[in-house]
Amino acid sequence: MATRSTTTVVLYTIVCMLLSVVVAAQANDFGGGKLKETNLMVEACKNASSYSLNPDNVTQEFCLSTLQSNNRSFEAKDLNSLVLITIDILKGRITPARGKVEKMLQNAKKGTVTMRALSFCKLDYDGMVRVLNICDAMIRDYHGDNSGLPSFELPRCVERVMIPAENCGSELDRDMPGAEALVNENAELVMLVNLNYALLAQYDDN
Ligand SMILES: *[C@@H]1O[C@H](CO)[C@@H](O)[C@H](O)[C@H]1NC(C)=O
Ligand SMILES: *[C@@H]1O[C@H](CO)[C@@H](O)[C@H](O)[C@H]1NC(C)=O
Ligand SMILES: *[C@@H]1O[C@H](CO)[C@@H](O)[C@H](O)[C@H]1NC(C)=O
Repeated sequence: MATRSTTTVVLYTIVCMLLSVVVAAQANDFGGGKLKETNLMVEACKNASSYSLNPDNVTQEFCLSTLQSNNRSFEAKDLNSLVLITIDILKGRITPARGKVEKMLQNAKKGTVTMRALSFCKLDYDGMVRVLNICDAMIRDYHGDNSGLPSFELPRCVERVMIPAENCGSELDRDMPGAEALVNENAELVMLVNLNYALLAQYDDN
């Protein structure tokens, strides 16, 4: 009798373990390929939605959908790892924007406002990537406030990328033929810069 109930308990336990493995697998791979956001992603985006470099706060929806666009987000173990991913996402968007600017520059007439705007935008985009590389290294080398760099330097590093992004936007805002796509693309870059800042902004509180 005692043996049988022990066996039952063991079997029951095994069935439960198997079930939870199946449930966990489904939770991770739900809807055939679409991963479910982690608690860290949700919490980071919730926190980020209180901050912005613009009048409009970063929305949780924009934050989550941006993170979800890179599968590494689902494996991130802390906030800083998430920001390294959003920096990569931003850099990945600057590259094609810069490519378009470069292409238009080749066809632009010399000595025109268009030529000037595109030249400065190219410079702005190059500068943004350089600053982001510095921020990336800064975040990787940050191991707590006692490691030599106060944490408020992290959001302030990313914040520096906003000025060139906005400069390019205001250059392009002129009535330039074919600039609409660039203007829209630049507006998206500004939103991504804002997100990068907002994710780190809690460090800027004190
Ligand atoms: C992300 O993961 C999902 C689910 O595993 C997969 O279907 C998708 O192809 C992956 N995307 C990339 C860009 O790796
Ligand atoms: C969110 O904010 C709370 C309160 O400030 C903080 O304790 C927590 O660590 C933050 N979480 C993330 C992922 O930033
Ligand atoms: C941004 O979020 C903060 C904190 O939740 C809130 O106090 C502020 O009103 C928000 N600003 C805007 C423009 O939504």
